[in-house]
Amino acid sequence: MGSFATRGEHAPLAVRQVAPTRSHANKRYLVLGGAGGAGKAAAGLLVAEGASVVIGDVRGQALEEAIASLGHDSKVLSGVVVDLSDASSIAAAIKEAEARLGAIDGLVNCAAIVRHVDPLETPWSDWERIFSINVYGAFEAARLVAKAMIAKGIKGAIVNVASEAGKKGHTQSLAYSASKAAMINFTRVLSEVLAPQDINVNCVCPGGMATDMLREVAVAYGDLVKQAPDEVFKQLVSSQLRRHIDPVEVARTISFLLSDDAIIIRGQAINADGGDTPY
Ligand SMILES: NC(=O)c1ccc[n+]([C@@H]2O[C@H](COP(=O)([O-])OP(=O)(O)OC[C@H]3O[C@@H](n4cnc5c(N)ncnc54)[C@H](O)[C@@H]3O)[C@@H](O)[C@H]2O)c1
Repeated sequence: MGSFATRGEHAPLAVRQVAPTRSHANKRYLVLGGAGGAGKAAAGLLVAEGASVVIGDVRGQALEEAIASLGHDSKVLSGVVVDLSDASSIAAAIKEAEARLGAIDGLVNCAAIVRHVDPLETPWSDWERIFSINVYGAFEAARLVAKAMIAKGIKGAIVNVASEAGKKGHTQSLAYSASKAAMINFTRVLSEVLAPQDINVNCVCPGGMATDMLREVAVAYGDLVKQAPDEVFKQLVSSQLRRHIDPVEVARTISFLLSDDAIIIRGQAINADGGDTPY
């Protein structure tokens, strides 16, 4: 049965300006996908909260631009080129980040790709490419960072950025949705595996965030449903917020889950989607 709007539509809810309040002083983080919308916002917030951050991304030029636009000393913020579809590249990037930072207290797994296609036409190659980055690469990074933490006795945290698509599933991005469901699942298991070392592992599940990825989604959906990308983009908003989520709002959730304040929240997939997913 459908539901009926009895109270009319409300205006979009404003993004709240919140000064960085959490302290990540002396913490050392690796943010993968850091040249993208959410990863860059997370890196910027974590540095503002006192952390030193290495950001990793496959796009070298975008990485440099992200670092330049965040504008911090290279001791506090630097970049490393990494391809999450390549295990040796991941190992090298983590080694490099550890060498620069001294140790890694937290990992943010924010890199991902999405593909759109009629589900019955999903090519095998899409499954391979999406899973190699969104699942194998993210897990490999988490595995290696966890081992590095264990070797140094660090009670760290891992935050995996999944998606509301990993819970609800999106028809036109079936393989992407399945990859995010896999991430939610390995987060749960890894949390149990790493509990003896007190390493905390959680997921964030964003909804429609105003980033390049959502613009890419709008172009692809627009093509499938024969609508202008701008029109589709406008529709990809939270029904309660009535606007796109700002990447910094997701970054705040990431910052919380990396912190000691979150140690009783373990193996969870926290919705940061403006209320659209009820579980
Ligand atoms: N934008 C949204 O609406 C939305 C919604 C739900 C979940 N998410 C998730 O949030 C995270 C961040 O997405 P975003 O919106 O900032 O997208 P984005 O495209 O701006 O950022 C993703 C980053 O991942 C990097 N990347 C892609 N392939 C890589 C590879 N092989 N190796 C290393 N890096 C690689 C890209 O270069 C890019 O900088 C992703 O995990 C995404 O699935 C986004």
